[in-house]
Amino acid sequence: MSESQLWDDVDAYFSDLLAPEDEALKAAQRDSETEGLPPISVTANQGKLLHLFALLQGARTVLEIGTLGGYSTIWLARALPADGRLVTLEYDAHHADVARRNIAHAGLDRVAEVRVGPALESLPKLADENPPPFDLVFIDADKANNARYVEWALRLTRAGSLIVLDNVVRGGAVTDPGSDDPGVRGTRAALELIAGHARLDGTAVQTVGSKGYDGFALARVLA
Ligand code: SAH
Ligand code: DHB
Ligand code: MG
Repeated sequence: MSESQLWDDVDAYFSDLLAPEDEALKAAQRDSETEGLPPISVTANQGKLLHLFALLQGARTVLEIGTLGGYSTIWLARALPADGRLVTLEYDAHHADVARRNIAHAGLDRVAEVRVGPALESLPKLADENPPPFDLVFIDADKANNARYVEWALRLTRAGSLIVLDNVVRGGAVTDPGSDDPGVRGTRAALELIAGHARLDGTAVQTVGSKGYDGFALARVLA
């Protein structure tokens, strides 16, 4: 059996057992595929991990950067109370349309709001609204801007908030200090920011699964 077949099989076992998708999550994946969105959402067991992180945070508010078809959005929004709020930022208007439909189909359109535009334009607008601090920030958009997203996350959170950064392995190239790949450079800058910042305490973990070899970083916001 190939390594990737093994990773698929184990992910299917974990997901079916511990993170089964209901009709709305299945519909979100089906609809995203029909609409031609790239198949790069988190997996079901990763979505469940995000959901558990939000519950552990006691989160009432979540900020997501990078919506795609709203699949991770649904997992996160389902951890919020009925009067909770999730804001998700998406560059691509078509992705945002698909996500809004999927979020509404999941009955979460009163909780989750999709904002269209480059996140680096949406974030200052959001900050100008002086929103209550976000309890969890999930960063999963263009990797070149990862460090800037961590900086914005710091401005929009509180002591005790959690920042989650997806896809930090870059096929292993994350270790290359001389890389000219913008995603590698942005991810390294974000990790170095987490490592060196007085208000952040974090780590990073490698993963395998049906999306292959990857990993995520976690950072807790300090006082
Ligand atoms: N979080 C999603 C996957 C996001 S994929 C999930 O797991 O279900 C990354 C998304 O980020 C894509 O939809 C892409 O269009 C969006 N994106 C890319 N650059 C962006 C930018 N500058 N601002 C906001 N979103 C961006
Ligand atoms: C890509 C982006 C993601 O957020 C992800 O989880 C996997 C792949 C990409 O841009 O290829
Ligand atoms: Mg991702």
